[in-house]
Amino acid sequence: MLERLHGIKKEVDSKLVEIASMAELNELKVRILGRKGEITGLLRGLKDLTQEERAEFGRVANEVKEELELAINNKSEELKSRELLTRLEQETIDVTLPGLPLANGGKHPLTLVMEEIREIFMGMGFSVAEGPEIESDYYNFEALNIPKDHPARDMQDSFYITEEILLRTHTSPCQVRVMEKMAPELPVKIIVPGKVYRRDDDATHSPMFQQVEGLLVDRNISFGNLKGTLMTFARRIFGDDLRVRYRPSFFPFTEPSAEMDISCVMCKGAGCRVCSHTGWLEILGAGMVNPNVLRYGGYDPEEVTGFAFGMGIERIAMLKYGVNDLRLFFDNDRRFLQQF
Ligand code: PHE
Repeated sequence: MLERLHGIKKEVDSKLVEIASMAELNELKVRILGRKGEITGLLRGLKDLTQEERAEFGRVANEVKEELELAINNKSEELKSRELLTRLEQETIDVTLPGLPLANGGKHPLTLVMEEIREIFMGMGFSVAEGPEIESDYYNFEALNIPKDHPARDMQDSFYITEEILLRTHTSPCQVRVMEKMAPELPVKIIVPGKVYRRDDDATHSPMFQQVEGLLVDRNISFGNLKGTLMTFARRIFGDDLRVRYRPSFFPFTEPSAEMDISCVMCKGAGCRVCSHTGWLEILGAGMVNPNVLRYGGYDPEEVTGFAFGMGIERIAMLKYGVNDLRLFFDNDRRFLQQF
């Protein structure tokens, strides 16, 4: 049996020199050292030996087994590093190939316009406030002087969640929300950017769009302050040669109310398709805060006055960038978005 053991050892040693692949090596390993391998087979013969022979054979067998394991492991390491070397020799990298450019993301045009509007108003001392998109009937209508059954509700048909809860139709509910928090502190000087929702859907109306609300409440605020602020804003965003005009309008939460037009940014007022040949474009609604709304906000209309305005961001962006279909902003077509 000892002879056979040494025979196995010799055979393995000579095989190891020849073997050139992992597959062959694994096969040898299983055949010799495996559970049903030759060494295990030999050890089965132990029962026929005397006590002494058994001890002697067991010792030698373990030694040989360890030696074989070591030899096979060494061979395995050798094969692995040889494989790596050949791969390194064969694989060539052409360092003169042009690199793959990383695609840079960009800001959405609506984000760009929103950021610009924020900058302009922050430069005039306004701070930025926000409010919930899911709003109560109270803040969206009641506190803005629009009682139930008031015909002005028809101008802003909404998505209702319950009878008392809806998706806000404008950012104006934040007027009262902010005043309630701040009263009696002065001035209240905020803009409110955010998403609003209406039951509308065509080339110039989307069921979801964005607005920026403005509110300034303080002592002695006049319509002149409103005009100065909005003129500054309009010229910053569209250019210094811009002209504006105000037309009387109606909002339940402002009195008096106005709509502000700007001279057409396409034709400079000469008349074109964009301005329906009038030379003017309507861009926002505004007015002096209705005394009732001041009261809802916790301020005394005998002591303070204020102005408010609200504008649609998509409309400003369409005019600024010459985009003729509102839906392009929401299609996420990269050919469109990459132009900004
Ligand atoms: N909330 C009005 C709208 O969405 C706009 C507006 C805001 C008008 C503030 C006057 C004052 O149509």
